[in-house]
Amino acid sequence: MISFVGAGPGAADLITLRGAARLAAADVVIWASSLVPEGILEHCRAGSTILDSSTMTLEDVLGIYDANPEAATVRLHSGDPAIFGAIQEQIDWCVAHERSFEVIPGVTSLSAAAATLGRELTIPTISQSVVLTRVPGRTSASMPESETLAGFAAHGCTMAIFLSASKPRDLQAQLLAPESAFDLDTPAAIVVRASWPDERVVRTTLGRLAEDIEATKEKRTVLVLVGPALSEVGARSHLYSPRFSHHFRLRSHDGSTTGRPSRNQRPSPAAPSRQGEANRREGENAASTGPHGN
Ligand SMILES: C[S@@+](CC[C@H](N)C(=O)[O-])C[C@H]1O[C@@H](n2cnc3c(N)ncnc32)[C@H](O)[C@@H]1O
Repeated sequence: MISFVGAGPGAADLITLRGAARLAAADVVIWASSLVPEGILEHCRAGSTILDSSTMTLEDVLGIYDANPEAATVRLHSGDPAIFGAIQEQIDWCVAHERSFEVIPGVTSLSAAAATLGRELTIPTISQSVVLTRVPGRTSASMPESETLAGFAAHGCTMAIFLSASKPRDLQAQLLAPESAFDLDTPAAIVVRASWPDERVVRTTLGRLAEDIEATKEKRTVLVLVGPALSEVGARSHLYSPRFSHHFRLRSHDGSTTGRPSRNQRPSPAAPSRQGEANRREGENAASTGPHGN
C-alpha cells in the first residue's frame, strides 16, 4: 500500500491520528524536507527507511514505489495533499500499475493560517466563498487562461494565495486590477510558516502588501490571505440563531434564546439508542475515505 499522507502545516501534532499511525507503521517514508519540518518524522518508527524527495524527480519517486512493491510506503505531502500536492500524477501511476493506494487528508496551511489569525474566512454578509489560488510562476503554463487573480478579485470574497511570495508586485497589481472589488485598504495577512516554531504573521492592507511581503525576506512557505473577512464584523450566523430552526433544533419560544431539540436530535454519546448507533455507523461508513485498488 502506498499512503499519500497530509503532513499538516508543520506542527508535529497537527498531523491526523490516521496519518501518524501510517508513519508509525511505514517501512519506507518519502518526505519533502523543503516543505515539511523534520519534527514530523518523530512519528516514524525506528528502522524505517526515510528518503528526502527535495532532490528527486517524479521518476525517482516512482522508482522507489516500483522497487518496493511489498513495503508499507508513506509519501508525506505538506498540508493537505489535495491542494497543490502534486499527487495526481502519482495516483495515476498507481492506477496504471495496479498498486493499492490511499489518500489521508491533512490540515492545510490555509486552516493553520486562519487559526493563527483568529479569523473565520466565511463570515455571513461579508464573504461566503474562499478562492484558493496562486500567481503564475515558473510553471505559468499550468495556469488555465480563464483563472486570473484579477478575475477572482472581482468577486471581493476571501482569497488564499499560495506559492506567490516570490512575486509580490505581480500579486498586488493583479489584486488591485481595475475590475477588482478590493481597494488599497482591503485587509490582508502574510503568514510565514504557519504552525512552525518560527511562525510569523504580518497583518497589513492590500496597499502595503507587496512591500510587506518583501520586508519578510521570505519566498517559500508563505500564505497570503486577502479580503474583508479578515477584519470586518458581519452578521451572526443563522445556524445558532434562536429564530432559526433546522433538522436537529426547533425555533426557540418567543422571548427565549434556549435551543429546543427536534425529534431528529442526535442521541447523547453517553447513551446512544440502538437506532442512533446504527445511524452513526452508517454515517461513518459513508464518510470513510477507504483505500483504493487491488
Ligand atoms: C506546494 S504548496 C502545498 C500546499 C499544501 N498542500 C497545503 O495544503 O497547505 C506550498 C505552498 O503552500 C503554502 N504553505 C504550505 N505550508 C505552509 C505553512 N506552514 N505556512 C504558510 N504557508 C504554507 C505556501 O504558499 C507554499 O508556497
